[in-house]
This record gives sequence, structure tokens and C-alpha cells, in this order.
Amino acid sequence: MLLLGIETSCDETAVGVVEDRTTLRANVIASQVELHAPFGGVVPEVAARAHLEQLQPTITAALAEAGCVLADLDGVAVTSGPGLAGALLVGVAGAKALALSLGLPLIGVNHLRAHVEVAQLEHGLLELPVLSLIVSGGHTSIVRIDADGTFTQLGATLDDAAGEAFDKIARFLGLGYPGGPVIDRLAREGDRAAHDYPRPMLHEPGFDVSLSGLKTAVVRDLRRLESVGTDVVVPDVAASFQEAIVDVLVARTVAAAATTGVGTVVLAGGVAANSRLRERMQPACAAQDVRLLVPAIRLCTDNGAMVAAAGANRLAVGMASPLDLDADPGLGLAEPTRTPVGPGAVAP
Ligand code: KG4
Ligand code: ZN
Repeated sequence: MLLLGIETSCDETAVGVVEDRTTLRANVIASQVELHAPFGGVVPEVAARAHLEQLQPTITAALAEAGCVLADLDGVAVTSGPGLAGALLVGVAGAKALALSLGLPLIGVNHLRAHVEVAQLEHGLLELPVLSLIVSGGHTSIVRIDADGTFTQLGATLDDAAGEAFDKIARFLGLGYPGGPVIDRLAREGDRAAHDYPRPMLHEPGFDVSLSGLKTAVVRDLRRLESVGTDVVVPDVAASFQEAIVDVLVARTVAAAATTGVGTVVLAGGVAANSRLRERMQPACAAQDVRLLVPAIRLCTDNGAMVAAAGANRLAVGMASPLDLDADPGLGLAEPTRTPVGPGAVAP
């Protein structure tokens, strides 16, 4: 079974091809980072237009990388939410056109679930239940995925998403967009103990996190240093800030594993690319006999292979989406509308 996956929820036009749910055949990403960088963040209209220009060539490149043609496909999967409305619409419209013209099932995929399910491309089908720390630019939560595929949110950020916090601090430091990778790189040369930033909610019950207080504390500290004429050592700030976020994310995830007794944790989403988070999560999970699955970095940040993998999981149990599938910017962790494959679900 060969699935094409289309991802256009934010600033990457990405297309992947996955065979038999677990074999990665292609993963092509047309990044828009340079287009948005001058604005210090993603401009939704610019993103939608760039997706429109890049979608067709990215599909062609992915098919070439996979060594297959459209006629070989068994289904077309697409991120239908959450994400930017105009950006999502381009992918959804493109996927519908492909599915309709080829007579293939269309599978709408939840972007956040796809971030978790991508782990099967390196580790095989997930043995449920698992816990996942989903940390991206717009989302931060700890979820439990049960054997029937139900996603239950155990905790979430009460304010900023982890990626958002990285991006905001990077912008404040004049480091450009996206900030996560830059802070990650600079932090390697910095002193993690140089600044004692707060670890909000670290010792409170439950699995929620709050990151805006940490962000405010960093900004306040930088302003204070500036006002007294002290030079700011940017790598030290980056390392100290990153350490505070990682402390909170690791502690909450490990506590969730201990409380639920679930023995596998999947690190998911763009912030899962963070080298310190990857480094710290490993021993913390091992100490509790918890198996940690960490996707390769290029599969953590937005990509089409994760959409193809998640689509393949739905199609394997006979589910597809109707051709009037809508983009849903506020989808949260819910599944998009889906019906059994058959009349109305597949193209005529
Ligand atoms: O999952 P993703 O690619 O897109 C969304 O669905 O949001 O995540 C993007 C986020 C951005 O905020 C970016 O700064 C962050 O992931 N990110 C990182 C790293 N690489 C990407 N944050 C920290 N360290 C990294 N190495
Ligand atoms: Zn994402």
C-alpha cells in the first residue's frame, strides 16, 4: 500500500511517500523559511501563496524520490488541521483534486497525531498504549494514546507553546526566525547555569506546563542587564533559557509516565528536534524503565512523510474522508471527519 502525504499547515510545503505504513519512500520539503524571515514570523498570506506555487513541484519531486508514479498510489493523505486556514486549504484542495482525478481514497489527517505516528517509520507500528510529549510551534501537550487509537490529553501548556517560547526569546535577542534551531545551536557554546531562570509549575500536581512566566523573566532580566550596562552573553542566555524549558518538559513527561504506568514515550513535533531535550529525555526515561522513541530530526519538524504514515494507518482500517473534507484550523487533537471507505468516501 503506497500513500502520498501532503503537509501545508504552516510554512513548509512538504510531500512524503510511505509504503505499507512503516517504510519511508520519500520525504521532500520546500521550506519557506527565507520568505518569512524578514518578517520575524510566518505571514499567513505569504505562506498560502508559496504553498500554491510549490505544491505541484514538491509532489513531482516526492514521486521521483520514491521511484513511483501517480498510478502506483493507493491513497492521498493530507493535513486538514490544525494550522493556518489559507495554508491548509491549498493542501486540502490539492489532495482532493489528486484523489478525485485518480479515483483514490482521500484521507484527512490531524497534524498533531501525524507528528506522533511518524515514529512508526523508524520504530515499527507503535505498541499502544504510549504517551507522547507533543511540542511544536503552536502546541504543547502530553497525551496518552490507547489501543483503540483514542488520544487523551493529560496536560498542556496554559499559555505559550514550547516552540512559540523559543521563537519569542530568539526574536527578542535579535536571532531571527525560526528561533528554536538558533537557540539550540548557540546554547551549545553557553553556560546553562549562567542565569537562574524560573521553572514554572515544576512542583505542582498534574501535567500542565506554563511557559509565559519564564519568557517574561528572561525578557525582564535582559532589560535589567541592559539598564545597568552589563554585556549580555547571548549563548549563556540561550543555554539557561533552554535548560529551564527542558527541565519542565522532561519532569512533566516523566511524571506522566510514572503516574499512568505507560511504558513508552514518543517525543513529537518540531521542538523534539532540540538537542538538549533529546539528550535529557533519554536518561530520565531510562531511569524509570520507560522506552523512549525519538524520531530523526527531519521527521520531527513538519514533513509529508508523517502525514502519509498517519493516512496509511486510517486506510489500513478501512477509513477515509469524504470529498467535501474541510480544512479545520482549530482541529485540536480531534480526528477529522472520516467514514468507512466506500461510496461517498472514494472518488467515483
Ligand atoms: O512541528 P513544527 O515544525 O511546526 C508546527 O507544527 O508548529 O514546529 C516548529 C517549531 C518552531 O517553533 C521552531 O522554533 C521549533 O519547532 N524548533 C525547535 C528546534 N527546531 C525547531 N525548537 C527548539 N530546538 C530546535 N532544535
Ligand atoms: Zn508541526
